Amino acid sequence: MKELPRIEKTDGRWQLTVDGRPMLLFSGEIHNSSASSAEYMEECVWPYLRPLNMNAVIAPVYWQLIEPREGEFDFELLDALIDQARRESMRLALLWFGLWKNGESTYVPDWVKRDQRRFFWARDSYGRPIYTISPFCDAAIEADARAFARLMRHIRERDQDEQTVIMIQLENEIGTLGIERDFSDAAQRMFEGAVPAVMPGAHGTWAESYGEEAPTYLMEYAYAAAVERIARAGQAEYALPMYVNAWLEQFPWRPGAWPCGCPVARFIPVWQACAPSVAFSAPDIYVTDFAGVCEDYTAHDNPLFIPEHRQDLRHMSDVLYAYGKGALCFAPFGLEDFFTPLSENAPLDNRAQILANRKTACPESGAYLAGAYKLMAGIEPLLHRALREGRVYPFIRRTEHEPGCELKMGEYRLRLNFKDAEGPRSAGFVIDNGGGDFFIVGSNVNGAFFGLYDDPRPVRALAIEEGTFENGVWQRGRLLNGDEAGLYLSAMPEAIHVRLFYQM
Ligand code: DGJ
Repeated sequence: MKELPRIEKTDGRWQLTVDGRPMLLFSGEIHNSSASSAEYMEECVWPYLRPLNMNAVIAPVYWQLIEPREGEFDFELLDALIDQARRESMRLALLWFGLWKNGESTYVPDWVKRDQRRFFWARDSYGRPIYTISPFCDAAIEADARAFARLMRHIRERDQDEQTVIMIQLENEIGTLGIERDFSDAAQRMFEGAVPAVMPGAHGTWAESYGEEAPTYLMEYAYAAAVERIARAGQAEYALPMYVNAWLEQFPWRPGAWPCGCPVARFIPVWQACAPSVAFSAPDIYVTDFAGVCEDYTAHDNPLFIPEHRQDLRHMSDVLYAYGKGALCFAPFGLEDFFTPLSENAPLDNRAQILANRKTACPESGAYLAGAYKLMAGIEPLLHRALREGRVYPFIRRTEHEPGCELKMGEYRLRLNFKDAEGPRSAGFVIDNGGGDFFIVGSNVNGAFFGLYDDPRPVRALAIEEGTFENGVWQRGRLLNGDEAGLYLSAMPEAIHVRLFYQM
């Protein structure tokens, strides 16, 4: 059998290996309901993804639709999705919308929703059910794991030769929403007992081990243990890399305002201990402190992978920072919206209406992302090497008033000035090729090189070039000299090549 895609650490750096080679995903996640109709995908999704220069799509598979009656499976929709992706030369990361999606259990089949004795709900402190099947419900986890294993078997039988499907996200933004923990009888029994030894920091009861955070730790454990069972069942059939994603902790800072049990960065050690079959935890980044989240998620020996991101142009340049920081994937959410022509005539009766309802068309974001993905595809081989060798320096305007930053690279300093222009915020990365040779990739920034602080010699340019990359090789455009010899990167994703020398 062809070797499977995998997440692995080589030379101290995480990478996704597909077809035996490292691969960056230039991606996007489609809307939750899009993949529930092959016809809708054909008419209203794929045409709008084509201009984006993507190489992978993140798309859901719904338990509700693949197992409409217990034990009876229907994979017609998934097969159509795989065929369409192949035709479009794209890979798929599939989202398993099983027991939990955004802290609730809306995607479980009818037979699960109706059998509330067998598949019991999580409860608040008054005993009222919330719309989430309890992560302490053994029968529910078993049923999800069985369906997921059947799905993975089908993907293996259908796809192991071509490997269009390369990864799986397990569930989506799991956790209990609105309450700090589950108070069902099963949860209560667990909360009153000793913390399982596998938990980091376990010594005695939950309260003894984790103090006032005991409820949150309980939920993190419960979801990690449940997801581990589901992942293991799936991997026994077909061992694709699997990950979980998080709705981030944010204002108001109260457990339950985000789903409790979510793999937020500070609980990654819990997930690593209790869910070893899960390759990594991934942040859905809608907050503005993009760099802060990336730092949190890489602080735990955890690959950086961004399966969801906001759509607005201001934050679209985060894409460049992400790859410069070593991200394996960047994926704005709902990106079939970007190029939606709102008044197009429709071959489907309701198509014009559906498209008109997409109020978030943002062609500027689409154009920016398409440009970034094209640039990144060209630079990818070179970037892999430079990241492995620690020669990449990402930068980003973290707050609106930050004037710039300084990067120290070997015997050179680069001072970057962030532009106050509208459009994408200043962001990008620098590759140090050694010997005063640099590539600067970014948007809305200008800069100047200097020597080290204690070195009085001036630094001068041998050449500053515009250009592009093809298969990791620089293709020079204009040579910028005379009074045009500046380091200026405009609002669109760009690259310049700089060669410097010290004047004696
Ligand atoms: C986060 C969820 O994970 C997605 O499935 C989607 O619902 C988005 N929010 C919508 O903004």
